[in-house]
Parts: sequence; structure tokens; C-alpha cells
Amino acid sequence: MWKGLIHHYRDYLPVTDNTPPLSLNEGNTPLIPLPHLSEKLGIELYVKTEGANPTGSFKDRGMVMAVAKAKEEGSNTIICASTGNTSAAAAAYAARAKMRCIIVIPDGKIALGKLAQAVMYGAEIFAIQGNFDHALKMVRRLSEIAPITLVNSVNPYRIEGQKTAAFEICEQLGQAPDVLAIPVGNAGNITAYWKGFKEYHEKHRTGLPQMRGFEAEGAAAIVRNQVIENPETIATAIRIGNPASWEHAVRAVHESNGKIDEVSDEEILEAYRLLAREEGVFAEPASCASIAGVIKQRKSGEIAKGSRVVAVLTGNGLKDPTVAMEATSIQPIVLPNDEKVVFSHIQGVVFQ
Ligand code: F0G
Repeated sequence: MWKGLIHHYRDYLPVTDNTPPLSLNEGNTPLIPLPHLSEKLGIELYVKTEGANPTGSFKDRGMVMAVAKAKEEGSNTIICASTGNTSAAAAAYAARAKMRCIIVIPDGKIALGKLAQAVMYGAEIFAIQGNFDHALKMVRRLSEIAPITLVNSVNPYRIEGQKTAAFEICEQLGQAPDVLAIPVGNAGNITAYWKGFKEYHEKHRTGLPQMRGFEAEGAAAIVRNQVIENPETIATAIRIGNPASWEHAVRAVHESNGKIDEVSDEEILEAYRLLAREEGVFAEPASCASIAGVIKQRKSGEIAKGSRVVAVLTGNGLKDPTVAMEATSIQPIVLPNDEKVVFSHIQGVVFQ
């Protein structure tokens, strides 16, 4: 039986005899081939569906390590700034580890499902009238002056936990892909994947992919090489104007012969709809920046025909029902509770 990351990847992680065996059975997520989009794009395309983690995003990989280490070190309170997924994961693992969890979020700018999670897991929630970058600055300072453990991805244990996704991809494919496409917000995850691919290659000779990271156009600080004071994008998860792991991301793409690129909200939404309609895979908008990026770079030729590409789908589509309902014109047709009327409507659809 799968027992989660600390158990499974113990030899690759900073785990000691005193590390609590914290787990919600995170990790071991499906790598799903996308036959229809592969054919359309002339590549071999897979998605790593991180929305299948216990709280519905990749953050569980990092959080299980960060919270276990905080507990091991005697801390009883964790804190994070978040666009939603980090706070959901932090709140869940804190509940499991019997710790307090304080979260600071940008008011009105986090998806409904994520807020519901934080509420249900019992976090202490502060919504500031500012953005993620402001919130992160505050919690970083607070964690320096108060006995609270910071669990944003500047905490190195987060990166350690998240690198395991790269291990899994190598195991699932038998080797690293040619290209790894990934959304970029605070840039912790691209940093973690690159670390993971390098470590696994050192041990198992699995090769190294080109790292291709995608920011949202309205929050593309790394692409523009300047801090964005007022980042804006429909993909609220990556609405970040001053990524904390900026230099690490730049190093990852430099070392791997990859690129940090940007995709527009329209491109993100197009990929979001395409993925659900053509392949039956529902991922949250920010996740679809990876697919939008693959489509863009196939058109430009930057991703070569026939490449084996893994796109990371960082979060579950159910996280953000509001964007889903606005992204499509298909709405339920409301009918009276009358068999005849219902039959005639459905037959009208079937026999059109
Ligand atoms: N995709 C999703 C769904 C995310 O929630 C995030 C980050 C990213 C991509 C970007 O990952 O920051 O490591 O580059 N969400 C953070 C949060 C900021 O607070 O949940 P990154």
C-alpha cells in the first residue's frame, strides 16, 4: 500500500528517526497521456495530475515535509502567505499534525474551493487588502520575530518534498521527458522539479529535461526581468509579481537549456477548455498555463516535433468553480419536473 512521500522517498529526503511519520497519502499521482492533443500538436504529451493529491494540489508534497520538520523541531504553529493552495495544504497538514495554522491571503483573490478548504481544516485566516507579494513579505518578517514556522516555499523542506514529483515522472516514463512544462508563480515548484530531475539522474541515469516555465502575462516578472507591482491574471494561483525563487528558476532554465515564457489569460482559458473537452481532464486555470505554453511553443517551433513532453497540472479544476462557470457557454437548461417535457427536450438534443 502507498504510504505517502516521507515513507516512500525516505532515502532521498532529510528524514531522521525523529521525523514524525506524517502523511495523508500524498504523491503517487497519475501521469496521463493525452492522445488527442498529442496528435494535434505532433508531440507525445502527458500530464502529471497533481490535482489528485489529498488537498487537490502539488503543495501537499512540500507541505508534508515542511510540517513534519516543523513538528520535529518542536514548533507548534505554522504560517504562510498564499494565493490559496499553499494555505489549503498547510491547514490540512497542520490539522493532521495537531498544530496551529495561520494563513494570510489576498482578500477576494483566492478561488472559492481553496477558501472553503482553509475554513474546514480550521486555519486562522487573515485576508489583507493587498496582494500575495505583500502577504509574503509580512509573514516572512513575522516568522523572524515570533516563534512561528514559515511554510512558504522559501522553507527548504518544501522544495525537498516537491522534488519527488520529478522522481515519479522518471519512474512512470522510465526516463526523464525531453521537455517539462510547468506554471510559474513564486517559482518554488520549477526549482523543486529541477532539483529532483538532477538528483534522480545522478542516481539512476534517467536524463534531464528542458525546463520550460510559464508565467501569466499580467504577472510575468521573470520574463520582463522586473518586479510587477500590480500583477493581474484570471489564474489567481499565479498572480505574483515578485517571485521568491526568481534566481533559482532562472538557473534551472539556464542549466537545462529551457526558457521562462509567458501566456495570456486568453491562451490559459483556451487550454483550460481544451483539456477538459478533448481529454476529460479538469485542472485549475493556473495549471493550464503549462498546456497553453506547450501549444504556444509548438507553434513557434521552440518545442520540436515528436518531443516527449510532460506538462504539470498543479491543481484540481474543482478548486475554482467560479472561473469554470464563466469560461464556458454551456449552462444547465432548467425544466419543470415533468417527464414529457424532459423527454422531448432530451430527444430533441439526441435526434437533432
Ligand atoms: N499552480 C498552482 C495551482 C499554484 O497554486 C501555484 C502556486 C503555482 C502553480 C505556482 O507554483 O509558486 O511554486 O511557482 N501557488 C502558491 C499558493 C503561490 O499560495 O498556493 P510556484
